[in-house]
Amino acid sequence: MADLPKIKILPPELSNQIAAGEVVERPASVVKELVENALDAGASSVEIEVSLKRRRIRVKDDGVGIAPGEVELALSRHGTSKISDLEGIFGIATYGFRGEALPSIASVSRFTLRSFREGEKAGKTIVVEGGKTVKLEDAPPLRGTEILVENLFYNTPARKKFARSETTETGHITSRVVQAALSAPEVRFNFIKDGKRVMELPPAKGLLERVLQIFGPGYSDNLVEISHSEFNLKIHGLAGKPHFHRATAIDQYFFVNRRPVRDMTLRSAAARAFDDLVPRGRKPVVFLCVDIPYAAVDVNAHPSKTEVRLADPAKISEAVVRGIRAAFGKASSVGVVERSAMVSQGVSSVFPSRVADAPAPLPGDAPAFARGFELWSPFRAEVSAPDSGGQISLSSAHGRLSEEAVALGQLFGTFILLEEGDRLVIMDQHTVHERVLFERLMKRHLASSVETQGLLITETINTSPALAAVIKSHIRTYSSLGWVVEEFGENTFVIRQIPAVLVGKDYRAAALEVAETLGANPDADFKDVLGDCISRIACRAAVKAGDELGPQEIKGLARELSAADTPYTCPHGRPIAFTLSRDELKKYFGR
Ligand SMILES: Nc1ncnc2c1ncn2[C@@H]1O[C@H](COP(=O)(O)OP(=O)(O)O)[C@@H](O)[C@H]1O
Ligand SMILES: [Mg+2]
Repeated sequence: MADLPKIKILPPELSNQIAAGEVVERPASVVKELVENALDAGASSVEIEVSLKRRRIRVKDDGVGIAPGEVELALSRHGTSKISDLEGIFGIATYGFRGEALPSIASVSRFTLRSFREGEKAGKTIVVEGGKTVKLEDAPPLRGTEILVENLFYNTPARKKFARSETTETGHITSRVVQAALSAPEVRFNFIKDGKRVMELPPAKGLLERVLQIFGPGYSDNLVEISHSEFNLKIHGLAGKPHFHRATAIDQYFFVNRRPVRDMTLRSAAARAFDDLVPRGRKPVVFLCVDIPYAAVDVNAHPSKTEVRLADPAKISEAVVRGIRAAFGKASSVGVVERSAMVSQGVSSVFPSRVADAPAPLPGDAPAFARGFELWSPFRAEVSAPDSGGQISLSSAHGRLSEEAVALGQLFGTFILLEEGDRLVIMDQHTVHERVLFERLMKRHLASSVETQGLLITETINTSPALAAVIKSHIRTYSSLGWVVEEFGENTFVIRQIPAVLVGKDYRAAALEVAETLGANPDADFKDVLGDCISRIACRAAVKAGDELGPQEIKGLARELSAADTPYTCPHGRPIAFTLSRDELKKYFGR
């Protein structure tokens, strides 16, 4: 009988270690929890020092501190000063409330906390190792709280190994610090990494100033302010102007009642708001803050508190879309995003009021431009639904473009026209070139024979800390793609050599886009993101809409396309060609 299982309550060290599995997923989660505690304590200054080599994280604040008699309580499971009853969970204004972070962290590290509460005679220092208190003594009356975490995960072998490369982790930590700094612009942040001050952010007047401090003026100049209220919702923040977009969602930040969150509702609402403003496959830049009544959001959805449940997601997402659109409506009235505002006013009917003063059309009342479009009824279906097959691409039904195609010329500076046997072929010059280059670069890469060009005058690129970490860890990836990139101080790189196709093109933008692609897929095998990286290069190297092309160049493009492996779409999946047959034309004109 002795072998039968018996139920017992786990000792606190063990239950804390179990909680740590969820709360402290990685070193970056420790930084997040400690910084959030500092902000909850009303700090006006937070200092974060990290040395991954020495497995050390230190966070110091000037907040209210912990009373000497409560230091041990702060370190016990569910010890919290932030809520006290059930009602409390439905009105959480603090980042923390579960009382789990400190005991969890202390159960998997050597943890030292020193704190002082104004009005007390002395402060307190407590040292905990693997969840067991090893020292408790008086400390000098220094304002605030300082926490030192050493030997993180020393007693959790799997997790210790799990800690990925230092650069990856530094990237995660940096992005946690950036999120916190964005969420509390009025607070001073200092971030020290391996003994170097990498971020010094004095108190800022608001989000825009904070973004300027972190990302620089070249970045913040590309943003417009979002400010919108409806019902009891406030939508505010910053949105990238339509030309300022990214290959990935790396520059999308969402905050609900100041809390940095990952939230599908908000993410897709933002995507919808930008739907016709940024090119397909590109991601808008957005810093979106949503303030809602505390009772309308359940923040207790996940131990790390980065996911929330919104009471009325549909209503919130509509408000977000309207808020972002309104930001551009205002901008367009001063002429900043004229073109995109026009486009959106016309074609789509999803958004009631896209331009500030335009009256909201009634449901079913198609905008004027769309009504005009009806006149084109014979082609309407084909034109407005690119996936409807048949007409749009050089689909299998029509086979590939033949060598015999005759170049007719260029249309609107964007399309090239060819006559081929019985049909007129209209192609987007950019996508054709992109496809051709993509295939050529891919083949060259696989044969390790990338053509490169050294730069006589080297160029530097300056980037955000998160992207810099990505570039640093991928110097060799860059070289396999044809770049020679070298580190040149914090967040800055020198470019000495570029892929030959990018000569005369925006190779800095291409380099950054490659970094974004790599950064968005940190855990992917390089061969899985290779295609994406190369398509960024191809896109930057390709002719653009507006570039003039002569008959020879048109013919050259057509010839190369006819030899391509996949001559139907660009690497992002956009169709390359639209065809119109002699029969279709005859039918249309009643011949
Ligand atoms: N930096 C700090 N300054 C003041 N008090 C703190 C600080 N960090 C933690 N505390 C106190 O310790 C308690 C436990 O912290 P934690 O385990 O993170 O739980 P929670 O934040 O969910 O309450 C907090 O409720 C707070 O009272
Ligand atoms: Mg906390």
